[in-house]
Amino acid sequence: MRMSLLRSASQHLRRRRDYSSAAASPERKVAILGAAGGIGQPLALLMKLNPLVSSLSLYDIAATPGVAADVSHINTRALVKGFVGDDQLGEALEGADLVIIPAGVPRKPGMTRDDLFKINAGIVKGLCTAIARHCPNALVNMISNPVNSTVPIAAEVFKKAGTYDEKKLFGVTTLDVVRAKTFYAGKANVPVTGVNVPVVGGHAGITILPLFSQATPASNALSHEDLVALTKRTQDGGTEVVEAKAGKGSATLSM
Ligand SMILES: NC(=O)c1ccc[n+]([C@@H]2O[C@H](COP(=O)([O-])OP(=O)(O)OC[C@H]3O[C@@H](n4cnc5c(N)ncnc54)[C@H](O)[C@@H]3O)[C@@H](O)[C@H]2O)c1
Repeated sequence: MRMSLLRSASQHLRRRRDYSSAAASPERKVAILGAAGGIGQPLALLMKLNPLVSSLSLYDIAATPGVAADVSHINTRALVKGFVGDDQLGEALEGADLVIIPAGVPRKPGMTRDDLFKINAGIVKGLCTAIARHCPNALVNMISNPVNSTVPIAAEVFKKAGTYDEKKLFGVTTLDVVRAKTFYAGKANVPVTGVNVPVVGGHAGITILPLFSQATPASNALSHEDLVALTKRTQDGGTEVVEAKAGKGSATLSM
């Protein structure tokens, strides 16, 4: 009895908190293109859990009705809609404030991100053309690889359409920072939650440049060889996952 009273009191408080944060937040529409994929699905889940999102548009060339039905049952603010195929792309994008693009093929073991270029360049070009038409002011987060090339492709599409704004187009490379922090904390034997490691450059092999010299907390315990090994592991982190998944996909959960 006491337990159930406590539970209902805490549920009541949680509901009040949910309500007040929703009431204080403006309307925000987020569209995920490639929403039924390995990255798209957990990303849809994260966006549905985000109290800042009021409308969540899930687009893919297949399977979005199922993903949308599933995610829509979560008791959070965002209204979820699924869209499938070219005919519905415009509606999926209309009025979007933020578009996140994990559409395209991932690597198989033995492939580099550049091997994805031919297929993903065409996919990204088509999607960005639609963004320029239907939500030209949206922020665009590019996940599809090779990010080093798909971001410039998006920029060119937007320039041609007259909608390019360098402050609104992003390549998603956070995963490199996440990996650098995790690997550094393990090697330096410090609590991972307090670690910061800046990473600059691009998002493929040696273009990924983790700056372990700037890492905090600083560690005297690491040799030059340790730093070289940490750098290489961060640069090859994606390959480590692709090989461990043995053809069943690339990094989707650490994203
Ligand atoms: N930026 C990063 O840190 C990072 C990390 C891992 C993977 N990736 C990249 O993200 C992309 C997706 O990876 P994944 O594991 O989710 O792949 P996946 O194959 O599981 O999912 C891709 C989804 O894109 C969809 N798709 C294909 N063409 C489309 C189109 N024209 N319009 C809309 N959707 C389309 C597919 O139907 C599929 O559901 C890959 O290019 C991968 O290399 C990026």
